[in-house]
Amino acid sequence: MNKTVKAVLRPLKGTITVPGDKSISHRSVMLGALSEGTTHVKGFLNGADCLSTISCFRKMGIDIELSADETEVVIHGRGIHGLNKPSDILDCGNSGTTTRLLSGILSAQDFDSEVTGDESIQKRPMKRVMTPLSQMGADITSKNANGCAPLMIKGSRLHGITYESPVASAQVKSAILFAGLYAEGDTTVIEPALSRNHSELMLEALGADVTTDILPDGRAKITVKKCDKLIAPKEVLEIPGDISSAAYFISAALLVSGSDIIIKNVGINPTRAGILKAYTQMGADLILENQHKSGSEDVADIHVRYSEHLSGTVIGGSLIPELIDELPVIAAVAARAEGDTLIRDASELKVKESNRIAVMVEGLKQVGIAAEETEDGMLIHGQGRTLKVGSGIIDTHKDHRIAMTFAILTLAGDETTEVSLADAECINISYPGFFEDLAKL
Ligand code: S3P
Repeated sequence: MNKTVKAVLRPLKGTITVPGDKSISHRSVMLGALSEGTTHVKGFLNGADCLSTISCFRKMGIDIELSADETEVVIHGRGIHGLNKPSDILDCGNSGTTTRLLSGILSAQDFDSEVTGDESIQKRPMKRVMTPLSQMGADITSKNANGCAPLMIKGSRLHGITYESPVASAQVKSAILFAGLYAEGDTTVIEPALSRNHSELMLEALGADVTTDILPDGRAKITVKKCDKLIAPKEVLEIPGDISSAAYFISAALLVSGSDIIIKNVGINPTRAGILKAYTQMGADLILENQHKSGSEDVADIHVRYSEHLSGTVIGGSLIPELIDELPVIAAVAARAEGDTLIRDASELKVKESNRIAVMVEGLKQVGIAAEETEDGMLIHGQGRTLKVGSGIIDTHKDHRIAMTFAILTLAGDETTEVSLADAECINISYPGFFEDLAKL
């Protein structure tokens, strides 16, 4: 389905909330299933990816109740050894998080399974989890021998390892840590910089023994011990709003002159909130209000005002994992900054739902913004406040974050701007009510 988007021509105003965090939603189902007792979740993200996780665990005998609007979930956990051999192939849809984290859990079961997903998932690299899991004793192979899903997993007895991950990836880390719950001895992951730590926070809250050390050179070392049981939380798990979804509205307010908005109840876990640092570094007027904890996670209301002067910047190093999913929309905002913005150390963007470096640069050029691909990122030539967004057709490559990014960038156009987003329904992967929420502002 193509969707045509036009410029707004007036400021965005108002207060909204965004749907629950995608990473935490996935983990609530996975770890809820492996816990003893019942996990009650509110603010669950009802996007297609998280519903894929629910469907996989139902196929392994877990009773999961969903409210009519699919934002409240009750997971009847069956304990760490309570999964059944799946009744069918486990279909993870478009979800890399489901595929990789599930692979870690399945490697340690006493049954065999097959995991697959859509066309995009079947092209994404799975060796990054197959390699460390195999070192732990897992029997996990790519059915088409191409390092991608479908994955054939034979349940095995695992042992702990120390794995130095070449990439700062929370999916790789979490797959290893989840397998480590079952492995003899300690399981340690060392990553180049700390990636999002929702798995560690949740595991700790459920009673697992997990430790994190930041090494003197900045690398992160995370260790989990074998675990006999996880205990479901007594309190309702309230999932905060997803900063990766809030990112589109924060960016919209910075693109459209005169805007002033508040996004309530957003997760600002420091391993996720890099976009706030990057925009502040560019000169944005961002204020965090009502900061508090929700369980183990930091939460705040984000107040954003259109900021007259934004300057181009360099985004790289350990900041990258803290804003990896927001880089497309940050690149769009960089178009209205004064001067160039360089995004570097971001090769991981090439293996997301699309090659987000190539696809962003192609899309920016489509609407008249000069940008170039670099080896590990991109360079955007900012036009300042006089930014002109042209009309065009954007090939989203069925990537939800690309589609939402260009919807937002279009808002900054003039009366004549009209952008058509191909396959715009891909937005349902992470944000089914995106256009309705945008309309509220
Ligand atoms: C995620 C980790 C990140 C992120 C993805 C969600 C997670 O992927 O891009 O959207 O929930 O663990 P990588 O681990 O590949 O960096």
